[in-house]
Amino acid sequence: MTTEEFRKYAHELVDWMTGYMDNIEKYPVKSPVKPGDIINQLPDEPPVKPESFQAFMKDFEEIIMPGMTHWQNPNFFAYFPANTSPPSILAEMIMSTLSAQCMIWETSPAAAELEEKMMNWLRDLIKLPKNFEGVIQDSASTATLAAILTAREKATDFRINDEGTVNAPRLRIYCSEQTHSSIEKAVKISGIGRKNLVKIPVRKDFTMDVQKLREAVESDKKAGFVPCCVIATLGTTGTTAMDPLKPIGRICGENGIWFHVDAAMGGTALILPEYQWMLDGREFIDSFVFNPHKWMFTSFDCSAYFVKNPAYLIKTFEILPEYLKTRTRGSVNDYRDWGVPLGRRFRAMKLWSVIRMYGVEGLQDKVRGHIRMARRLAEMIALENDFQILAPVTINTVCFRFRPAGAVEEDINKLNETLNHRLNDTGKIYLSHTVLNGVYTLRMVTGQTNLRMEHVEKAWDLIRKTARTL
Ligand SMILES: Cc1ncc(COP(=O)(O)O)c(C=O)c1O
Repeated sequence: MTTEEFRKYAHELVDWMTGYMDNIEKYPVKSPVKPGDIINQLPDEPPVKPESFQAFMKDFEEIIMPGMTHWQNPNFFAYFPANTSPPSILAEMIMSTLSAQCMIWETSPAAAELEEKMMNWLRDLIKLPKNFEGVIQDSASTATLAAILTAREKATDFRINDEGTVNAPRLRIYCSEQTHSSIEKAVKISGIGRKNLVKIPVRKDFTMDVQKLREAVESDKKAGFVPCCVIATLGTTGTTAMDPLKPIGRICGENGIWFHVDAAMGGTALILPEYQWMLDGREFIDSFVFNPHKWMFTSFDCSAYFVKNPAYLIKTFEILPEYLKTRTRGSVNDYRDWGVPLGRRFRAMKLWSVIRMYGVEGLQDKVRGHIRMARRLAEMIALENDFQILAPVTINTVCFRFRPAGAVEEDINKLNETLNHRLNDTGKIYLSHTVLNGVYTLRMVTGQTNLRMEHVEKAWDLIRKTARTL
């Protein structure tokens, strides 16, 4: 493809992109296709001769688009959002054109230094202490894996990295029953073993029961285990519960335990002064992750991972083959040493673009608006006798169920599952669910970039009316 052809197609593509954004609500939010529908339309063999851009776009429209779920549709209320925004997309276009591989400072000094500056901006925006330093990871799962590996190495004086786990102490990791599955995955991968992940019961509001954590740590110590890392969550996946950092951190401090905070979703709320209470106890934190790719309008993937002492992180991950030796080593940040992959995308670009083009106030307005929408939704639900709110609404997620008068408890779970599928099959909205204390719970997250109050009101109307037809 010549650059002239590229220019022509790229312009066409920008028209396609804006058309998509303008018409996003016309697409079914959740793709209605069945398993195999897409793969069966694709040829088994790759083309031998070059094909045209037009042929490629035709197949994209006809085969691929029907199989897409539209996360940027404002009626996407499922899971947690994976938001983007025009400033982020523009930055992705630049990143994609430069296609720099930013593994070390020398392979693109601007990428390393912009990343350092963006992490400082974010750190100050969410008001982590000034002595924290940050690095962009692809996902919160990777950041949590980095935290657990670092905690493992610190607890064993960096011996497992050298000797493996054969003579290692039995390490213990702690999190609440409501933490995200990425913690369990990281514990498995780390070699610590899933059986050494202690899931602490939660209180009525789904936050970690701190007394139970204390008891677990004490009893483990007596039994000869070594408590290694506690993971608290700000914004649990099920209900966005906020674990109380201060008392948890105090236990970590008293016992020399690494304290990691998973704020994948909730962290963005910290840009609001009125949500700074969530970070009470910050002085105890060793590492902290939040996802601008969830709620800060920055395209997937972009996870901000902060550590109080990068030396531990770097010592856990660094390797120095001959071909990566540079003259600047030691005087700059070589982010390849700050996580699992060697190769790194230039993700700082999209943060720079988003933060500049929204401005801090613009980001705050948007996040506040989403929180207002969740509160409004909860108010509307509370007005209906045949619906029930099932968890406190802390930021942008409302957990509820349909509970018609006279229905038998055993039937209500099935009823709500049917309601969830019925709603999602309309293509008009997309909700997901969790189970709380055995109760099938519908979750509605008001964090999508393009969401406005009228979408929430319309969605609620559809939910109410559909439920009453069941
Ligand atoms: C609390 C929490 N932590 C971690 C994750 C995993 O995020 P990622 O997809 O960035 O690994 C999620 C995903 O929703 C989450 O809700």
